[in-house]
Amino acid sequence: MNPAEFLSLLHARHCQRAFTDEPVSRGALEAALSAAGQAPSGKNTQPWRVIVTTGARRDALSNALCAGYDAGAKPQADYDYSLQPQPEEWMDRARACGYALFELKGIARDDVPARKAHGRENFTFFGAPVHMILHLPAGAERGNFLDAGMFLQNLMLALTAQGLGSCPQYSVAGYADVIRATLGLPADRWIICGLSIGHPDPAAVVNTFVPERLPLVDFVDWQQ
Ligand SMILES: Cc1cc2nc3c(=O)[nH]c(=O)nc-3n(C[C@H](O)[C@H](O)[C@H](O)COP(=O)(O)O)c2cc1C
Repeated sequence: MNPAEFLSLLHARHCQRAFTDEPVSRGALEAALSAAGQAPSGKNTQPWRVIVTTGARRDALSNALCAGYDAGAKPQADYDYSLQPQPEEWMDRARACGYALFELKGIARDDVPARKAHGRENFTFFGAPVHMILHLPAGAERGNFLDAGMFLQNLMLALTAQGLGSCPQYSVAGYADVIRATLGLPADRWIICGLSIGHPDPAAVVNTFVPERLPLVDFVDWQQ
């Protein structure tokens, strides 16, 4: 692969939120996980762990999460995702991203049932046949999260390179107790996020969604 091809792979990866039911081969998942495991980590600690669910286990997890969501259980993740309060410019971008996604899906801003159904799709894993759970030891620190993030990005890129799609999901981590109970994880493991994986549905308009990125001038400060 030449540099331009590699860079175009980075530009090509965007979240996919509709999948066909075509199964994902074990070989493709192993290749992606093995590539992901090449991620750097502080002193090579490799803190990441993943559970790969398919078939009946994937369905059991989805059903348990949907039950929690439908019951109106308040999401309670093991860690806060973001700085609070968020800087106004982050909020603006988050809102713009959400509104653009709703517009693409034809969901009116005041259509509460449609918005709820949209949120619920997180817990049916957007129809993906594979769902992974990324977990770390309870009490993991910022550096461990940094390492896990690099693993996650490697994983998503390796999936993209094989024609697969994925969507990382903090929403899923909001039901950490449900996940631990369903998958048999002890309390001393933190649920970092879920990752839905499958063959993207080429007919789904939602899969064309690419939120706008900042130009370099907005996030790079050249000093010499
Ligand atoms: C750690 C993490 C958690 C995320 N959680 C969700 C989620 O729960 N549901 C969802 O639809 N997208 C989720 N996203 C996807 C982001 O919204 C998406 O990455 C962002 O809007 C940029 O879009 P792109 O990845 O398609 O380029 C998450 C992304 C990350 C990195």
